[in-house]
Amino acid sequence: MYKLKYKYWFISSLSFLLLIASFTPMSDQEIKPQQKLVDVLKSLGQDYPEHYIENPDSVDIKRGYDLIHVGKTNPPDGFASNAISKFYTCTSCHNVEREDPDLTLVDQDARLEYAMKRELPYLQGTTFWGTVNKESWYNDDYVLKYGSLVEKAKGSLKGSINLCATVCSQGRELEEWEMKSILSYLWSLQIKMEDLDLTEKEIDHMNELAESDNDSAIAFIKSHYLTKSPATFAELPESKEKGYPFEGRPQYGKAIYELGCQHCHHAYGESDLVLDNSILTFRWLKKHMPENSKKSIYEIIRNGSYSELGHKEYMPNYTLEKMSHQQVEDLKAYIEMNLK
Ligand code: HEC
Ligand code: HEC
Repeated sequence: MYKLKYKYWFISSLSFLLLIASFTPMSDQEIKPQQKLVDVLKSLGQDYPEHYIENPDSVDIKRGYDLIHVGKTNPPDGFASNAISKFYTCTSCHNVEREDPDLTLVDQDARLEYAMKRELPYLQGTTFWGTVNKESWYNDDYVLKYGSLVEKAKGSLKGSINLCATVCSQGRELEEWEMKSILSYLWSLQIKMEDLDLTEKEIDHMNELAESDNDSAIAFIKSHYLTKSPATFAELPESKEKGYPFEGRPQYGKAIYELGCQHCHHAYGESDLVLDNSILTFRWLKKHMPENSKKSIYEIIRNGSYSELGHKEYMPNYTLEKMSHQQVEDLKAYIEMNLK
């Protein structure tokens, strides 16, 4: 009798404990959607990156916003600052919003459709959204083709920002407070756990991993976004008359023209060449298409142009990731549609 009672007591208190345990959170470690990706990785044992800024100051963020969107701002010492570049702002070539519905892969059509829905520019540079969470910059062919210039920048966000301020923007080196401001602003565009769009099941799995094996948890999290933006410099078509072997889709071409080309080629824009919606312009684009000159959309899209002495504006090329061969044909189809 006594034994039985004891057993009963033991079982009931055990089930009581289990009941309690199922209601209380598993541990302080549990990862929540509002958490910043960088903090979650830190809690799993990965150090903050070299460009980390803890609790960026709101004044710095505002200055960074100005530098990126306008090109200059009011510096801490009160003297008016010089524009970083006479020709561009960073947003000539980079967005600051999320660009990809699925962060795990490069899908040009998905990105274009996403841009069409939100009227985002369709540009050569990678978005600044989430750039602080990347682990390398100026990747792949940028290193192969530009060599030592990019070699140093690749592993460092600060190095990449300075490279882009001086070379891409045809501007100058940044002052220390400018770099701090830009980084502060970029940290305001960082990825949060909820941006990874994990399912309930994946969240549970991640939390299970986090309890037993930090490295697997980190690897699991990193499989849900790209830690770098891949870059392939694409070839011209074998024949510019024939183009790439894809059937063009004019409605996508229209979006590329309006969200891409016209972002810079408008009156008083980054380029002196105005690409408007007139028959004359479309005829000009069509006529030059097969030529071996920068006036050919194939040449300018794939190879870009270079800045020359006394004329510093240039057009960055679109890598394959930023415009697929299919999409170049889409643009061509749209130009031709306007001439029918
Ligand atoms: C004329 C166009 C242009 C301008 C202006 C420009 N950039 Fe860029 N930037 C590029 C291109 C093209 C790349 C190539 C790599 C990429 O973004 O995928 C790049 C790369 C970068 C990268 C590395 C991105 C990555 O994921 O590899 C950073 C960071 C960057 N730029 C910052 C800036 C900042 C800050 C400014 C303004 C001071 C600026 N850029 C102005 C065209 C431009
Ligand atoms: C980030 C800004 C930017 C974007 C986006 C852009 N361009 Fe350009 N483009 C330029 C600049 C700057 C030049 C240099 C022209 C100049 O000297 O003014 C140029 C030059 C050109 C030229 C050569 C002009 C000549 O006579 O040599 C063509 C053609 C051209 N762009 C077409 C396009 C097309 C088509 C698109 C869209 C797929 C596009 N551009 C997107 C900035 C841009």
